Amino acid sequence: MMVTKREHWDEVYRTKAANSVSWYQPTPEPSLRALEELQLPATAALIDVGGGASSLADRLLERGWFDLTILDIAAPALDVAKARLQGDAGRVAWIVADVTEWRPGRRYDVWHDRAVFHFLTEPEQRLAYRHALETGTAPGSVVIIATFAPDGPERCSGLPVQRYDAAALAVEFGSAFALERDWREEHTTPGGGRQWFQWCVFRRR
Ligand SMILES: C[S@@+](CC[C@H](N)C(=O)[O-])C[C@H]1O[C@@H](n2cnc3c(N)ncnc32)[C@H](O)[C@@H]1O
Repeated sequence: MMVTKREHWDEVYRTKAANSVSWYQPTPEPSLRALEELQLPATAALIDVGGGASSLADRLLERGWFDLTILDIAAPALDVAKARLQGDAGRVAWIVADVTEWRPGRRYDVWHDRAVFHFLTEPEQRLAYRHALETGTAPGSVVIIATFAPDGPERCSGLPVQRYDAAALAVEFGSAFALERDWREEHTTPGGGRQWFQWCVFRRR
């Protein structure tokens, strides 16, 4: 029987401890560093697309950010984050949606995506993602994105991924998004594996 994307991710978060999955980071350091370097005010509206159970929102709430949205295809992922945040969960907007089918109802200053876009292996999925991105951002908005690098793994969570360097990501995002910064990061998985990520910061023209 075909397992849908949503069923796959629901199952992952129902059956695995959040700190045991390969993409787990004790602290989302590259993202926090990128936000610091951008010198964004804490009033900025940020969406973490495919945020899963990441602690990015926790760390930003501590730093005084208050306009935070976390979107994920898997409700159980958001349940993990909400349980961890306890009373502070009410300070975050939660959206259960497939980003390729979602139409944002507002615009965000920061669109953050760590390890989600790379699952879109079909051109039409990437087109749908870009439609959401274009609806959910405005000129001046920044996009912080991380995918597996060309020498990164070919699969993540058992699913095939498309790997990118900065130039290839810039082609995907198109001329409406100017590449401001790019760097590579070697992520260490909880099991001690090493994975090369490509990070990019784009600004919408
Ligand atoms: C590799 S995990 C990364 C999670 C998080 N960004 C982090 O860095 O910890 C990929 C996440 O994307 C979510 N996801 C996968 N495909 C998605 C889609 N089409 N729309 C929204 N979320 C999706 C998964 O449920 C999962 O939480």
